[in-house]
Amino acid sequence: MKKRFDVTIAGEINMDLILYGLPEVMPLERELLASGFGMTLGSSSAIVAHNLAALGVSVGFVTRLGDDPLGNVALERLAETGVDISCVKRVSGGTSTGVTILLTHEGKRHILTYPGTMFEMAAADLDLAYLASARHFHLSSLFLHKALQPDLPGILRQLKSEGLSLSLDTNDDPEDSWGAPLDELLGIVDIFLPNEDEACRITGKSDAESAIGALAKRVPLVAIKCGKRGSLVEEAGRRWFVPAQLVTPVDTIGAGDSFDAGFLAAYLRGEAPEVCAGFGNRTAALSTLRQGGTESFRDPAFVHEFLRLAD
Ligand SMILES: Nc1ncnc2c1ncn2[C@@H]1O[C@H](COP(=O)(O)OP(=O)(O)O)[C@@H](O)[C@H]1O
Ligand SMILES: [Mg+2]
Repeated sequence: MKKRFDVTIAGEINMDLILYGLPEVMPLERELLASGFGMTLGSSSAIVAHNLAALGVSVGFVTRLGDDPLGNVALERLAETGVDISCVKRVSGGTSTGVTILLTHEGKRHILTYPGTMFEMAAADLDLAYLASARHFHLSSLFLHKALQPDLPGILRQLKSEGLSLSLDTNDDPEDSWGAPLDELLGIVDIFLPNEDEACRITGKSDAESAIGALAKRVPLVAIKCGKRGSLVEEAGRRWFVPAQLVTPVDTIGAGDSFDAGFLAAYLRGEAPEVCAGFGNRTAALSTLRQGGTESFRDPAFVHEFLRLAD
């Protein structure tokens, strides 16, 4: 049966407010000046959806968000690239849409998130038939979906039984406990996309090489994002290290999510794992060239030119 979308995503959406050039040490009660500011569509799930659509993949996105100005802007940004938002649930009068404030210093950043509606999205907010009307389902930010967590194994099993392939990027666990339902989900998904730090903390290993060995016993296709080094990918006992694209980043916010978008776009074209990882490295590098995780992808000519030159 022909599916309506290539990819569906159920996840969080918020704007990122980014301040650049703040001092490393931030004393209280002082006026600290930033050298730059940007407001971009942020949050892992929304960045993956936005950037997949910018790469020409058809995407349906489901979320729960507040009836507030920042929620409106975020949703507009998503729709602008062609993501379908017809099943998004807006709630008025309650919790507002979340927001992330990023304070960037030389090479390091503070990430401050007010979760807002992202902690409240529950199974009742999701239209399963809509999510199933795709070839692939992606889940990001497992540990932010507090209300949804208990139902995720059932939802993912259902989607799998309807023929979808599944990918997971946990992102960070703010509690650093890496507990349920992660272990169960690793037994269900087809693709796992952590970064190196997350992969090490999940497995208790000290480097990406040992972590991927452990994770690949659980998941058929694993790609570990290793920052400016690139990515490590393993499938069916074969392992590749794929070097990153050499660029001078404006910031690396959303690079991992942009990697996911490139990796999945190539996977859905039927490419081999190392090709998917190479394309993921390129789309991740592209995201670092403008503010936040989505600004590079709002400029089709820039996307086209960078990906063509990087070939
Ligand atoms: N300085 C950089 N130069 C080029 N590519 C980068 C750089 N930093 C990150 N990347 C790319 O972004 C990907 C994801 O970055 P990483 O920091 O590992 O993940 P996350 O954003 O999830 O923490 C990397 O695998 C790499 O392809
Ligand atoms: Mg990440």
